[in-house]
Amino acid sequence: MEPLAPIPSRPLPVSARAPGKCIVFGEHAVVRGSPELLFALDLDAQVVVRPAPRIELNSDPRGIEENPYFRAALARGWPDPAPVSVRSVTQLPKASGLGSSAAFVAALSAALASASGGLERAALAQRAFDIEREAQGVGSPGDTSASVAGGFVTVNAGEGAPLWSVASGAERWDVRRVEDPGWVWVIGYSGVPRSTADAVRAVARRLEEPDGPRILEAFGDVARAGIEAVGRGDREATGRLLGRNQELLRTVGASHPRLEELLRAAGPAAEGAKLTGAGVGGSIVALPKPGQETELVRRLARAGALPFAVRCSPAGASLVEGAAPG
Ligand code: PMV
Repeated sequence: MEPLAPIPSRPLPVSARAPGKCIVFGEHAVVRGSPELLFALDLDAQVVVRPAPRIELNSDPRGIEENPYFRAALARGWPDPAPVSVRSVTQLPKASGLGSSAAFVAALSAALASASGGLERAALAQRAFDIEREAQGVGSPGDTSASVAGGFVTVNAGEGAPLWSVASGAERWDVRRVEDPGWVWVIGYSGVPRSTADAVRAVARRLEEPDGPRILEAFGDVARAGIEAVGRGDREATGRLLGRNQELLRTVGASHPRLEELLRAAGPAAEGAKLTGAGVGGSIVALPKPGQETELVRRLARAGALPFAVRCSPAGASLVEGAAPG
């Protein structure tokens, strides 16, 4: 596989974009080293970074105190003492399980890296993860790697072409590229926001119980089978495995009554569906039955969700050339 292009060097002002992500199999368990499959969404965050008399985020000088992702991104990616003003816009609802923070961090880190001489993509993936981990305190590098790489990626799966590995202390996650099956997926955002960090900590406590190792193993089996099913383009098997993954997520307390309602609403038009991301609110992802995309979107809207029909974005974090005139 061709290595992914590095982020090129550009002078300020610089604009960059990065996609959000959708986890198909393996969220939560991935934090403990289990396999995960996810893809970059065709919904993104975009930033413009300009020289400025003071540091600000969307015209607010308190951004540096109030937004831990912004603070960590500047601390790790902007050694230059010259202050910058950052504007950000996003198509991703916040705290929805769709990787809005990872997309913001990846786009901002790409822009800052570009204005500091450019950066290899593996180094950008490590930096974006370090920033998210510092801001959030917990988590795996799946989200930030999908935002940096684009396309479909696996974590800890040993499947596909190696992209990079990302480390935190003694922990290490292996990130690889697998093929996009080219499917349309339907996401339904419940409108129930939640904290990823709280959800991750609650599930981690549940996995400490005596049946934790058995549950973790089941997560791994489902994700491995799911990666294979997606790899051979088998929609029915993928749908069944989405349902099995959801049962496990329910067992560890990551579901929510609103998510269960949306999963029921999706049922008749979907091969299968599950929550996506940290859960306890946030979103579901469903694989439509052939020709049922519109019906699935309609069913989720009627059930009160914000639905999105999405595809995988092949592009990861990238500069938006010509978008930031002085
Ligand atoms: O809900 P999100 O978009 O923050 O995704 C969290 C995914 C987890 O597996 C629960 C945590 C992680 O960092 O992998």
